[in-house]
Amino acid sequence: MTSSPRRNLAPPEAESQGERAQAIREMFSAIASRYDLLNHLLSLNIDRSWRRRAVDRLGWDARPDGRYLDVCAGTLDLAIELARRPGFTGHLLAVDFSQPMLRNGLPKIARLAVAPACADALRLPAASDSFDGAMAAFGIRNLADIEAGLRELKRALRPGARLVILDFAMPRRWPLKWLYRFYFTRLLPFAGRIISKHSHAYTYLPESVLRFAEPEEVAALLTGAGYEDVGWELMSGGVVCTWWARA
Ligand SMILES: C[S@@+](CC[C@H](N)C(=O)[O-])C[C@H]1O[C@@H](n2cnc3c(N)ncnc32)[C@H](O)[C@@H]1O
Repeated sequence: MTSSPRRNLAPPEAESQGERAQAIREMFSAIASRYDLLNHLLSLNIDRSWRRRAVDRLGWDARPDGRYLDVCAGTLDLAIELARRPGFTGHLLAVDFSQPMLRNGLPKIARLAVAPACADALRLPAASDSFDGAMAAFGIRNLADIEAGLRELKRALRPGARLVILDFAMPRRWPLKWLYRFYFTRLLPFAGRIISKHSHAYTYLPESVLRFAEPEEVAALLTGAGYEDVGWELMSGGVVCTWWARA
């Protein structure tokens, strides 16, 4: 691939990193109550299998009683996917800076070893070298500074611990490339606006994905942040990508 990574976007009116982060937080807070419904509906429920695959990549079974981190945890589905795995006896810290998103996940974590924390992924409420693995689903793209986010995650991970990132990508091959682009940039924003009743959250989604780095570029960012053994795989025809790396 090509040039320097395309940086993540914020709503057009947002300028500084702080304003950008606030706009993102307000946007997710506003759609929190409809987030799960829209997630499952607009992905035809395939999002569950993407999260399953991401957790498979974490290598948690090497340390089933360990401490794990889910950043940009939202309504907690990724954390729950790990916490419910048979044989998992560890603990999860699920960090998100939108309280309404976390609150909507709370009913789902009863009796699970998941502790939600309302905090910024760029300033994790965690000691250095304190986690045996970390993951982020559909969140890294939203960070005001992706590289700083990757460095902060590395700080929190024990040396050698694994980071797994799941996020959207754009299919590269005909005819899916064009069919999906039509769905993602036209149908999805339309359906998302009607169901979420939010003016731009589901326009922001495809725009942020189109501006997000290509899979190779995210891999390069991981290497640049000091991670090793970086790899990635596209899923569902290239609609999503999972990256993994060792701190
Ligand atoms: C698309 S949702 C993903 C939620 C969840 N991981 C999932 O798989 O459905 C993105 C989440 O990232 C959170 N987020 C974005 N930037 C963040 C930051 N800097 N710190 C903490 N959370 C952030 C948002 O509040 C939102 O809940």
